[in-house]
Amino acid sequence: MTIKNDATFLLKNTVTLSFLSSLFFMYTDYQIFGKSITMKITHTIADIKHTIASYKSIEKTIAFVPTMGNLHQGHLELIKMASRQADIVVCSIFVNPLQFGKGEDFEQYPRTLETDIEQLKNRACDVVFAPTVNEMYPDSNVNGQDNSQLMVPVISDILEGASRPGHFMGVATIVAKLFNIIQPHKAIFGAKDYQQLQVIKQFVQDLCFPVEILAHPIVRQNNGLALSSRNKFLSNTQKQQAGIIFQTLKNLADQIKSGETKFAQLEQNAIQLLDAQGFKTDYISIRKSDLSPATLTDKKLVILIATYLANTRLLDNLQIER
Ligand code: PAJ
Repeated sequence: MTIKNDATFLLKNTVTLSFLSSLFFMYTDYQIFGKSITMKITHTIADIKHTIASYKSIEKTIAFVPTMGNLHQGHLELIKMASRQADIVVCSIFVNPLQFGKGEDFEQYPRTLETDIEQLKNRACDVVFAPTVNEMYPDSNVNGQDNSQLMVPVISDILEGASRPGHFMGVATIVAKLFNIIQPHKAIFGAKDYQQLQVIKQFVQDLCFPVEILAHPIVRQNNGLALSSRNKFLSNTQKQQAGIIFQTLKNLADQIKSGETKFAQLEQNAIQLLDAQGFKTDYISIRKSDLSPATLTDKKLVILIATYLANTRLLDNLQIER
C-alpha cells in the first residue's frame, strides 16, 4: 500500500544502505525504485517492538498517535502533526474495553479497521499497531480489569471521571502500556478530550515517562461540531443541531471575556438553554486550565461541556484567555 511518494520519503529520511537493508526485512510489499513504499501493519506486541527497534537502530525518531480507530479528519490531523515532529509516525488502533464502563457503548463502538488503514496509507503514517483485546490483556476474563492498572488521582475523579468511574484509569493504563511498547519520543493527543490530555500529562510527569506530550487543537465541522467517532450515531439533522454546543461555548466565552464573573450562574443558564433545545446536559464547567476550580483572578480558563443528544454523549471544550 502506498503511503508517500519517493520525494517525500527522500526528504524525510536520509536513505542509507543500512536503512534500505532494514526495510527489506521489515516490509513484505514495497517498491524502492518505483513510486512508493508500504505502510507496515502490525498486530502483535512482538512485531511492533521489532519494527520500532529496527527504526531506532538507525536513529529514527518516533512520533506516536494512539486512537480507537474509526478515523476521521480530527485523527488525520494528528497524524499530519506527528509527521512534522519525527521521522517515523506510528498510529495505534485499539478499542480499549478497560476505559468503557458497564452499559457504555463498547460493543457498539464503530470498528472500521479496513477503512482506517485505507485512510492512513496515503497519509504520512509509517506503522499501524492494531492489536486484539487478548494481545493487550492476555489471560484476562474481564477485559483487563484483573491486570495491573494505573490510577492518576484527583484529576481522574472530576467531570468525565465523576460521570464515568474508572474511565481514566482505563485510559491511563492503556496509554502507559502503549508508551512502554512503542517507546515514542513524542506522542500527540487532541485537545478535544481535554481532561484525558491532562490525565496523560500528569502520569507522564509523575512517573517520568521519557516521552514529550503534544496537543493538537480541536478539529471541527463547518457548523462548529467537534469531529468525533461518536458522531456516527447522529443523523444529519442531529449533526446540524449539535452545532449549538460550540455556540454555547462561544457565548459563555464572550460573557466571561466581557467581565462576567458569576461562573456558577453562567453554567446553570447555559445548561438550561441547551436542554431547552433537546439536549440532556451532564455538565458545563468553567475551570482553570489545569481543571481545578476557577477563581476570579485566573487568566487562562477552559469551558467544558458533556451533553447527550438522544443517546449520544458529546464532549467539547473551549480554552480562553481574559
Ligand atoms: P479516540 O477517541 O480515537 O481519539 C484519538 C485521539 O484523537 C485523541 O487524542 C483525541 O483527543 C483525538 N481527537 C478525536 N477527535 C478529535 C478532534 N475533533 N480534534 C482533535 N483531536 C481529536 O481518545 C481516544 O481515542 C482513547 O481514549 C485513547 C487515547 C486512544 C486511549 O484508548
